[in-house]
Amino acid sequence: MRVGPFQVQARSDHAPLTVEDWRRRARRRLPRMVWEYVENGADDESALRGNRQAFAAWSLRQRALAGIAEVDLTAKIAGEELSLPVVLAPTGLIGAVHGQGDLAAARAAERAGTRLVLSTGSSYSIEEVAQATSADHWFQLYPWGDRELTGGLLARARRSGYTALFVTVDVPVVGNRLGERRHGMGIPPVLTPGRMLSAGLRPAWSARYLRHRRVALRNLVEPGQSARMLETAQRQAVNLRPDLAWSDLAWMRDQWAGPMFVKGILDAEDAVRAAEIGADGVVVSNHGGRQLGSAPATLDALREVVAAVGDRLEVLMDGGVRCGTDVVKALALGANGVLVGRPYVYGLAGAGEAGVADVLAIFEAELRRTLHLMGVRAATDLGREHLLPAR
Ligand code: FNR
Repeated sequence: MRVGPFQVQARSDHAPLTVEDWRRRARRRLPRMVWEYVENGADDESALRGNRQAFAAWSLRQRALAGIAEVDLTAKIAGEELSLPVVLAPTGLIGAVHGQGDLAAARAAERAGTRLVLSTGSSYSIEEVAQATSADHWFQLYPWGDRELTGGLLARARRSGYTALFVTVDVPVVGNRLGERRHGMGIPPVLTPGRMLSAGLRPAWSARYLRHRRVALRNLVEPGQSARMLETAQRQAVNLRPDLAWSDLAWMRDQWAGPMFVKGILDAEDAVRAAEIGADGVVVSNHGGRQLGSAPATLDALREVVAAVGDRLEVLMDGGVRCGTDVVKALALGANGVLVGRPYVYGLAGAGEAGVADVLAIFEAELRRTLHLMGVRAATDLGREHLLPAR
């Protein structure tokens, strides 16, 4: 309805315009237990906060009258030409967020011309996600358990057409995530009357959850194996390997013929080790602030890593990337691309596949607008000269 020059809407709630809008929507829609699982960081959450603060330290250089009609956002990552330099990070157990979980994320990534890195701890299996899309997605490996288990996962990923491997190395033990511990998220989630009430007050989430019941680590058993085997495997699953060493990573390198990235690198010397064992790239990451609570901000670590191996390895980063200008800052500091975790999980919580697609569309529009305003023709042209220290 129009009243004078105004358009009157039935509800004041506008469609989400930013990742932050999707975040607020997710918070309203998810039961507290699941919300805390998504949002929390480790210890006093210094690393979680630091990731965001590091972006505020930089301003972007604006150049006028650059005569650019079209900007180019394409990026080459892991041998693939992507439509934008934003990849969906591996996030485990997202079937608890939305029944379609990893399937929805993979489909939305494919539609946007980018990729999902499927978590080892996904709610749909390697095979189910491969069948749901035609893009060749990427696989994240937690090197849990012995070489037989790891080798089996790699063989399944290879058979299903996954092209790139991301080995996560920052979980020798699980970080001290107090939100998760306080609110009972785990496998299986621990239910109390208060938690059941919080879920019950969100009927859309509860209906989806009861339909799909996707808090499961589907990759722990081969397709077709029984629910009982899955249960047993899950009980034994979080069999982390605190003793994992570079020699194990060298073994994994031998097992995987395609591009291999080491995810969870924050130190230049470790980045050099990754290059020495023959990795193709690293992901500068502190696991979204969920592991070492006082880890450095990833944007700060990125500069050190780029200086050490930027000429030899592809360098990706994640942690706190929430808008197009954040992506621009990471690329200007030498990243080949970024991964986002929570942003697409918010979209998933709010509207499933359409929500993830919208979050990616927001990043794309913001990137395009930012490059135009800066007078930069292509995302790959970004460099240190486009940044100024913020006051
Ligand atoms: C993660 N992350 C993660 N990383 C990984 O290698 N394997 C995994 O299974 C998970 N699971 C997971 C679940 C959830 C709910 C979150 C929020 C994160 C870390 C993830 O890949 C990425 O490094 C961070 O999420 C990046 O930070 P932002 O974008 O969330 O700030």
